Amino acid sequence: MANILVKTSQRNYRINVGMKSMTILKQQLSRHNKDGRIFLLFDANFYALHGVKLSKSIRRTKRSVAEMIVPSGEKYKREFLLASIYDFLLSERISRPDLIVACGGGVTTDIVGYAASTILRGVEWGVVSTTLLGMVDASIGGKTGMNHMRGKNLIGAFWQPNFVHSDMIYLATLPEREFTSGLGEVLKYAGLAGSKISKPLDEYFSKGKTYNWKLLTKLVELSAGYKAKIVSKDEREAGIRIWLNYGHTVGHAIEKSFGYGKLLHGEAVILGIVAALELGKVIGLRQSASLDSYHRMATSMLSLIPRKKLKIEAICDAITLDKKRSGADLKYVLLERPGKPFIADKLDRGAIEQAVNQMLELY
Ligand SMILES: NC(=O)c1ccc[n+]([C@@H]2O[C@H](COP(=O)([O-])OP(=O)(O)OC[C@H]3O[C@@H](n4cnc5c(N)ncnc54)[C@H](O)[C@@H]3O)[C@@H](O)[C@H]2O)c1
Repeated sequence: MANILVKTSQRNYRINVGMKSMTILKQQLSRHNKDGRIFLLFDANFYALHGVKLSKSIRRTKRSVAEMIVPSGEKYKREFLLASIYDFLLSERISRPDLIVACGGGVTTDIVGYAASTILRGVEWGVVSTTLLGMVDASIGGKTGMNHMRGKNLIGAFWQPNFVHSDMIYLATLPEREFTSGLGEVLKYAGLAGSKISKPLDEYFSKGKTYNWKLLTKLVELSAGYKAKIVSKDEREAGIRIWLNYGHTVGHAIEKSFGYGKLLHGEAVILGIVAALELGKVIGLRQSASLDSYHRMATSMLSLIPRKKLKIEAICDAITLDKKRSGADLKYVLLERPGKPFIADKLDRGAIEQAVNQMLELY
């Protein structure tokens, strides 16, 4: 079982990645105040598949447990769900020494984490991460929050969890598109970290469609380890944490212009990564064998994404609008080569349009 340390000013914590690792989860729970209660908040789909077993197992520790099932889906990551989470916690008389545990993917851990950061001015919390995207990204780094009608993740707080528990067994029930979405974030780490992650990812794809659990576990460990390292150096995104936005500028613009939920987040990130690689070519970055082979892997992943009619104008407008609103220059995370990200700025719209167009031709 991998045990990855995240060091932050709020607290240091461990990410555990493994298979059938209930004993480790129980150990994590037992480190927390034994007299405190445990509040389990489950994603509804996850609960239907694994929740009863997980809950029974935690109850066997003789801790007092209260549980709530929260609806699944991005559209619920809003203030009305937050209000019902507060209602539940307060009607169960939560107190500061208690522990909240969010069991689900990024939607659940984002909003439950935000509830934990604000209820009684902050109650400690842990994560049982149940999607690939959650395990490699959303559960790590303490960004919690919810959507507003004006946009995604506009309200939130940095509130680091006390532990992150990623049991690979849960991924066996994950729908295929959700799997691809998680692999989109792994592709991002492969670009940022280089061969250490791109090689096993390439190997994973070359083994065909059947899930190779050993390789997949390795990919989760490496990706979570990379994010943990970045967060430990730059907790509040004042510097290198911005690298984690690789592929996200165009990715977010696709999600926004096309309508949230029509393409999954990680699917849009794959498209965004291909656009970023094309942008590198457009602005004349030196191409290399390692960049070429990373580009080939990213392009081959496009076939995993459902065909949608995306509009270049709408994507480019969404990018420029976003930047105008934040008053920022057009800044992009690009790769000098896999393992060597850098920030490119002062890019004109023409170059971006050309790159997005080339990406759309490959899609
Ligand atoms: N906080 C961060 O740093 C961060 C980073 C990246 C993304 N995010 C957020 O994460 C969210 C996306 O997360 P996600 O991709 O995990 O989506 P999700 O939480 O919506 O989960 C995807 C789907 O899988 C289902 N599910 C969960 N576990 C399952 C399991 N084991 N078996 C079967 N089905 C299961 C869910 O019910 C849902 O339908 C977005 O809201 C995004 O903004 C946050």
